[in-house]
Amino acid sequence: MIARGDVVVPGDKSITHRALMVAALSDGRCVFTSPLAAGDTRSSAAALRALGVQVSPLSHKRVAVTGRGLKPFREPGRALACGNSGTTARLLLGLLAGHPFEAKLTGDRSLSRRPMARVTEPLRQMGAAIASAEGGRLPMTIRGGALRPLAWRSPVASAQVKTCLFFAGLTGGVRVSVTEPVTSRDHSERLLRLLGVRVEVEGTTVTVHPADTIPAFGGEIPGDISSAAYLIAAGVLAESGELTIRNVGLNPTRAGFLRALERMGAQVEVADRWTSLGEPAGTLVVRPARLSPVVVEPDEIPSLVDEVPLLACLASRAEKGWTSVFRGVGELRVKESDRLALVASNLSALGVAAHTEGDTLLVEGTDAPPRGHVVTAGDHRLAMAFAVLRTVPGADVELDDSHCVRISYPDFFRDYARVVHAA
Ligand code: S3P
Repeated sequence: MIARGDVVVPGDKSITHRALMVAALSDGRCVFTSPLAAGDTRSSAAALRALGVQVSPLSHKRVAVTGRGLKPFREPGRALACGNSGTTARLLLGLLAGHPFEAKLTGDRSLSRRPMARVTEPLRQMGAAIASAEGGRLPMTIRGGALRPLAWRSPVASAQVKTCLFFAGLTGGVRVSVTEPVTSRDHSERLLRLLGVRVEVEGTTVTVHPADTIPAFGGEIPGDISSAAYLIAAGVLAESGELTIRNVGLNPTRAGFLRALERMGAQVEVADRWTSLGEPAGTLVVRPARLSPVVVEPDEIPSLVDEVPLLACLASRAEKGWTSVFRGVGELRVKESDRLALVASNLSALGVAAHTEGDTLLVEGTDAPPRGHVVTAGDHRLAMAFAVLRTVPGADVELDDSHCVRISYPDFFRDYARVVHAA
């Protein structure tokens, strides 16, 4: 296959969620260009509207949010449907913790299976009352109010946990410190600091101090490196061509995929760099490469957590007979699906030797074309990771569901078809 041309990937999902929510806490009208308009961010926009915040229709061109200060919400008349979005559910719980009324959160089947105790336990310690379904999962009801300051040691490196607690601190007017085993993506810290909130970082501990106001703000949301990753992988797997991907977020706490790819022997050139909304961004130029196996260690995982399925697919195309090792990937079990089990079983279904040993994933390189049926479990990232293997000559990869890409990258198949062609 040839991968050639120019693509602009959609806005960053994590940053779009945060921009919408922090804008709601601001004291004026905020306009963002190039936000992500997809299933997950629509869940956040709709929940904010149900809580009385004015949010314009979310398009990939722009979105406007009118902030109403640090306690912006009105009691909702209905349950807040978070759809498939863990970020919506966990970050909203933080925002709601400082509000003195009851709100119910629901999710789809996948979200209703995901662990919530990681946020409800610290929120309860702060003083929020939370009642949930069996096992502490969604659906759940939260009644916030007067909160206490918190110093929390999170057992998992999770930007959703960290951000949820910072948002609780801001709506509740109290100081919050979170210590993680490894620093997770720092979009919230960057944005809050940009807006004048006092944020202190010491090792893996971040402290956010209460704010008096958050000024209205706006700007361009950088493209999502997690979405760009699929096209980068296609550009690397192709036999020839050169792919330019414009406006990609390059925050170091998100760019572990590029670092791992470089160790595998692929050079992704950064042609241009700038900063937008406190986030580094750039233009990437991708060329085909022969891949070597890779070893990814636990402390790298937070910086590439959503790209492990894709890296595992790439590892299957590394030098024949050599094994790539991904250590400390247990969190993949509690993403939109059990990604750890499904990556291993789907790679096996395509003729690749792949298995798990505890929290480690092992994938052996092969030169046989991937052929077979992939079970996505409705998980957008599994669908895109395995779809990219179609770039391999002789591949025949069938997906049981391709609509699920609407969660984070609705035009993925259109963009892929525009730049990847038969040789
Ligand atoms: C996200 C954080 C990550 C990531 C998810 C988005 C965020 O989850 O997997 O897609 O926007 O904060 P964890 O922080 O729970 O690892």
